[in-house]
Parts: sequence; C-alpha cells; structure tokens
Amino acid sequence: MSGEKRTIRLSKCSVDHHEKEAVSRVLDSHFLGMGVEVQQFEKEIKAYLNTELEVILVNTGTAALHLALECLDFQDGDEVLVPSLTYVASHQAISAAGLKPVSCDVDAQTGFIDLVDAEKRISAKTKAIMPVHYSSNSVDIPQVYEFAKKHGLRVVEDAAHSFGNKRDGHWIGEAGDIICFSFDGIKNITSGEGGCVLTADKAVAARIKDARLLSVENDTQMRFERNRSWVFAVKHQGYRYHMSDIMAAIGREQLKKAPQFAEKRKQLAEMYFNMFEKFPQIKPVTLKNKDIVPHIFVCQIVSEKRDRIVSYLQEQGVSVGLHYYANHLHEYFKTDYALPKVEDLCERLVTFPFHVGITAEDISYIENKLEVYFKERVL
Ligand SMILES: Cc1ncc(COP(=O)(O)O)c(C=O)c1O
Repeated sequence: MSGEKRTIRLSKCSVDHHEKEAVSRVLDSHFLGMGVEVQQFEKEIKAYLNTELEVILVNTGTAALHLALECLDFQDGDEVLVPSLTYVASHQAISAAGLKPVSCDVDAQTGFIDLVDAEKRISAKTKAIMPVHYSSNSVDIPQVYEFAKKHGLRVVEDAAHSFGNKRDGHWIGEAGDIICFSFDGIKNITSGEGGCVLTADKAVAARIKDARLLSVENDTQMRFERNRSWVFAVKHQGYRYHMSDIMAAIGREQLKKAPQFAEKRKQLAEMYFNMFEKFPQIKPVTLKNKDIVPHIFVCQIVSEKRDRIVSYLQEQGVSVGLHYYANHLHEYFKTDYALPKVEDLCERLVTFPFHVGITAEDISYIENKLEVYFKERVL
C-alpha cells in the first residue's frame, strides 16, 4: 500500500443519475407535494417486504416514531420503555407524544435493550416498549413481543437501522405491532430524508395517514388523486409530516438498488469482521449474522483508551463516530438511577466508516493504520 493519506468518510449516501432523473421527472410534473410518487413508493415497499402490514410514508424516521406513539392514544405522562443507547430521536419522539421515555440498560455485548432491567422499570403507567434495532440487530425482538404480551404493552420498533434486513428468513416489517424505518441520507436506502410506519392495526394506520396531513380526514386519498379537501373534518392533533413526491422519487430509485446495496454492505461487514480478528483490543458489537444488513459498524475498545485511538484515526483521515452517547445522561432525559452497562459501553464505542462507497483498499488502509497504532503504543 502506498503511504498516501486517505480521507475515509464515516457515512455517505450513494446516489447517481437515476435519482437525478427521478427528481427531474417530479419537477417537470409541477406537482411537488404528496401525490402519486408517494403512493407508488408505499406500494413498492409493501411488495419488497412481502408484507400485509399497512405502509405509511412520512418525512423522517423521528416523525414515524412520533406519529406511531401519538396515534396509540395513551394518556399524557404514560411511560414507554426504551434503551438508553439509541439516537436521541427515539427519546424525543416519545416525549413529543406527551409520554415519558423510561431509559433502560442494554446487553453489554450487543447494545440491545436488557429486558431484565426493563422489567424493573415497569409501573402502572407503562404502556409501550420501543426496542431499538441497534446496529441493525433485531435477533431478540421475539423476546420483546413475549415481554410485551406478559405486561400488556404495545410494541413500537425503532427499526431505523434495519431496512432490508431479515430475521429467521422473514423481512423486518413483514409482521409485528408497529415498525418504524428511517430513510435519512445515510440509511440503508434514502429518500433524502424520510421515514415509514408499518402496522397491522388498521385503526392506528388510518389515524397516522390523517395525522401526517394535519389530521385532515381522508386527505391521503385525496392527495393520491391529485386532489385536496376544502371542507373537511379534523378530530385530532395533526402534523405536516407527510413525505413529498420529490423524496419518494429518490426513494423509489434507491429501493431498486436495495439488493445491490445490501450485498455490498454485507461484504464490507465481512471484511471488517475478518480484519478485527487481528486486533483483540477491538471487538465488534455489530452482530455477525447472514440476515443482517448493517447500517453502521460499531465496535467496543476493550483494553485501550477509546479517545486516544479515535484521535489517532481522525488524524489519519479515518472518520469515526459514536453511536451513541447515553440518553439518560442528557439534561432533558436525566434519570435518578444509573445504567451501568450503557454507561460503560458509551465510553468504549467507536463506529467505523461504513457505506457502499468504501473499498477494499480503504479497509486495508484502516488495518494498516491500526497495526501501526498498536505497534507504536506498546513500544
Ligand atoms: C436509532 C434511530 N432512531 C431514530 C432515528 C431517526 O430517524 P430520522 O433521522 O429519519 O429522523 C435514527 C436516525 O438516525 C436512528 O438512528
């Protein structure tokens, strides 16, 4: 390998002339809001995921989570169990719905919600649990449904990392209570920004369809017919959370590429798993599993100062991240109890560059830099 310094981005979208042409098509139609492109994208997602669940597109993954909770009609102050190790979007969506996020500890190896800890946090106000598919891992979701059944809770899956993943041979989104995806710029597929709710609950689906358009009753159908309502009924709080046709046009092109993106992400993960076998100081948290299409590649540093290795990699042009800082330590979501496993993990986690533009040479470069780092460190 040459000694040349590289710049390797942590994450990056992959778009080309297909998305550009799709956006031009919408611009040329002079109809930019929510219309037939969104309708088609919903149908195509339904077909892709081979699902009978209703598919409702919105403008972010956070909006998907917010609307899911809002349309379940809980009382203000009711509680939702959620792992502390997640993007702040999960917690903000819960509080935006007037509910209280109850942060729970996670499994020290996988970062998935720890149901033993969650059980301790159940109160008379607990109405739902929001498991997060941390780093695309949903292996233990069936246990969450058993837990929810035992305690009479609804399940809102934060599957922001999991579009195009499978579990036991079935697509994420094929079955479940409420599942929310994100299509922001760096997710497994993107619609620029964007999100999606899937649910089998027809009543909740109908509420969400209205709520994304200010709760104007049946406005979704009107918009799909390139029409709109002038005299209408409004019975609930609503939001401007709908997806636009411009976003859907990007998303539809990305969906066509989803299998090839998935293949590339799996190959990349394999390269990382092989590489990290060389470095006992760095342990992948992202699960090695043939059904998983990782959105991010997360590791924990087991015998080393995380911040030193992070600074070193950044100096070498390798952009790394932290997924995530513990939510229960934020001022707004502070708890009066500690969550030891999350607190320990969030001191050790490092996310390595992961997107479909990463090459084998980039991985060799990272490997080479880590070799130099650990050699010099012991001298
Ligand atoms: C775990 C998790 N939940 C929710 C979201 C929110 O998705 P969006 O950025 O589309 O609002 C994200 C986005 O990064 C996420 O990683």
